[in-house]
Amino acid sequence: MELTSLHSRSTFAGKRVLLGVTGGIAAYKAAVLLREFQKLGATVQVVMTEQAQQFVGSMTFAALTNMPVRTSLNDEQAELSMGHIELARWADVFIIAPASANTIAKLAYGIADNLLTTIALASEKPLFVAPAMNQKMWAHTATQENIATLRQRGIAIIGPGNGEQACGDVGSGRMSEPEEIVATIAAQMSADVIQAPELSGSNAEHLPLLGKKVMLTAGPTREPIDPVRYISNHSSGRMGYALAEQFALVGAEVTLVSGPVCLQPPAGVTKVSINSAEQLLAAVMAQISEQDIFVSVAAVADYRPATVAEQKMKKNPAAINSAEKQNLQIELTENPDILRTVSGLMHDRPFCVGFAAETEKVVEHARNKLLNKRLDMICANQVGSEQIGFGDKPNALEVLWQDGSTSIAMTDKTDLARQLVPVITERYCATITS
Ligand SMILES: Cc1cc2nc3c(=O)[nH]c(=O)nc-3n(C[C@H](O)[C@H](O)[C@H](O)COP(=O)(O)O)c2cc1C
Repeated sequence: MELTSLHSRSTFAGKRVLLGVTGGIAAYKAAVLLREFQKLGATVQVVMTEQAQQFVGSMTFAALTNMPVRTSLNDEQAELSMGHIELARWADVFIIAPASANTIAKLAYGIADNLLTTIALASEKPLFVAPAMNQKMWAHTATQENIATLRQRGIAIIGPGNGEQACGDVGSGRMSEPEEIVATIAAQMSADVIQAPELSGSNAEHLPLLGKKVMLTAGPTREPIDPVRYISNHSSGRMGYALAEQFALVGAEVTLVSGPVCLQPPAGVTKVSINSAEQLLAAVMAQISEQDIFVSVAAVADYRPATVAEQKMKKNPAAINSAEKQNLQIELTENPDILRTVSGLMHDRPFCVGFAAETEKVVEHARNKLLNKRLDMICANQVGSEQIGFGDKPNALEVLWQDGSTSIAMTDKTDLARQLVPVITERYCATITS
């Protein structure tokens, strides 16, 4: 957290943030967001839609910013100097938070019928959108299609989060917390320094992964013993899902091949569900030739039962009648090595990132895996202790590549993903331009 806030401070110091506020219950959170930007040294100006003013008075923002709040396109005084264009030019970054379903739809269709949406059309600056709405409105196909359109244009969508809503519903649609919005923008702006020359569009130069295809695997595999039993592991999928979300936020087209986990796929990410390692391999290979980056986070079982019983295996009758314990042996056979299969491809090989979960000699084992499997990068993490590793536990990463390495200090998995995606992006860009 300390690292993140230092990072955010250097990103926002002296920057001009244009904050667009639209009509939703979460409009009150925009005041907290504004203060966060100010605390980090940014100058903030606010633009409100007419409906937003039904929720929070413009006076609140005027007092906090010490500047007039712009609410109307038909402001004769301001428009003497083409105020809407001036505001678009003034900003270093434009963030709409909360973004209503209505405004998101207007952005998707290029409708410019108020000051806020007109600025969005006139602006070439990085645009961030933090949706906030009822979970049914968020899940509606219309909204999801509009969000997909914005993502394709390289507009970063932050959140929304899950949880209890003002209307009493529970689900996805809550505006992300102000601190999370600030941290996400900071993480993306820091990745912006890397430019991919072939990209185009207003956000392209800031988002080198815009439109790039990223495939991730996540979660455990289940290797069946019989129709009701399986061998598996403790992987929760959280690291892979957090990475998928961050890649989507920087404009990548993300496919997440996931084992059975209790997580919702992040917004805008295409999920392919699998159970066993063989299914995982099939799902990966079906689309691998289209991918630019492959990140293997799944905890794939190294072995599976050599034969799968067709019916539920019964206890040996001799064991039922005997006082002596009877042993049962299950023969295991080796599973395909998915990462090695992908990194060994001769044609259309994506940039390959592996994860090495180790209980000892973390860096040594990871360096061996990097070389043996011909990977572009490997992220080594320690698992197995009480405090770090699987599930909700925080983690630290040693990230290694052929001629370099970096460390990411112990933090939660969302923050790890935020810090790791810029590192992967930088190495990927260095590889494709070398
Ligand atoms: C009490 C109330 C709460 C609302 N909350 C939301 C909301 O959280 N998200 C949303 O998208 N729309 C919400 N709406 C609907 C929007 O205010 C409405 O779609 C409006 O046209 C949005 O205008 P704007 O996008 O120009 O700000 C709410 C409406 C009311 C009356």
